[in-house]
Amino acid sequence: MKKGIFISLEGIEGTGKSTQAKLLSKHLSKKGYKTALTQEPGGTLISSQIRKVLLSTKHHRMDYMTELLLYNAARVQHIKEKILPALKEGKVVITDRFSDSTVAYQGYGRGISLKLIDSLDKAATGRMRPDLTILLELDVKTGLMRNKHINKVDRLELEDIKFHEKVRKGFLKLAAKEPKRIKIVKASKALDEVHREIVKIVEKALK
Ligand code: TMP
Repeated sequence: MKKGIFISLEGIEGTGKSTQAKLLSKHLSKKGYKTALTQEPGGTLISSQIRKVLLSTKHHRMDYMTELLLYNAARVQHIKEKILPALKEGKVVITDRFSDSTVAYQGYGRGISLKLIDSLDKAATGRMRPDLTILLELDVKTGLMRNKHINKVDRLELEDIKFHEKVRKGFLKLAAKEPKRIKIVKASKALDEVHREIVKIVEKALK
């Protein structure tokens, strides 16, 4: 059976993950790799509908547990319908966010028990992890400002700075725990510089 490679991009708001994911996918396609570019929550019809529920600013009453379960539900569908089939076809799957975001946002950010998050992750993904994760690192204020400039507002972005600081720390803790899988790239640099750095890391992993 052919097997592809699974790459995720992670980070707080406004780090340029989506742009970098697109640039990486384009670069790899030019190099002859078959790629599948996707995002969480999203990537399938059902997961995209769940994304709308999760990110609507009208849903400010959403319970943290509802939030956690919905991110997991979207992920189950995403893995089954999109990620696994693409990997079976030997593609390089690039996802804008995956389960590290749940640990960072719902675990460190919301304060839900990491044990509970882990057991739900086991049920939802079988503890599937990307082969490689690029963590785009940026200070919270810069990230939130960047998103304001492009008028990007969703329910989680509306949380206060303290929340986003906790999320950022969560990502850094994850990176410290799994340095082989999670590579930190400074997102404060120019877009093309960040892109070149990501390409270097990914090409090394693809060899
Ligand atoms: P984004 O992909 O545009 O950044 O929007 C997704 C939002 O959802 C972002 O605020 C991070 C948040 N999120 C979680 O809180 N938990 C998760 O598991 C995932 C995938 C995203």
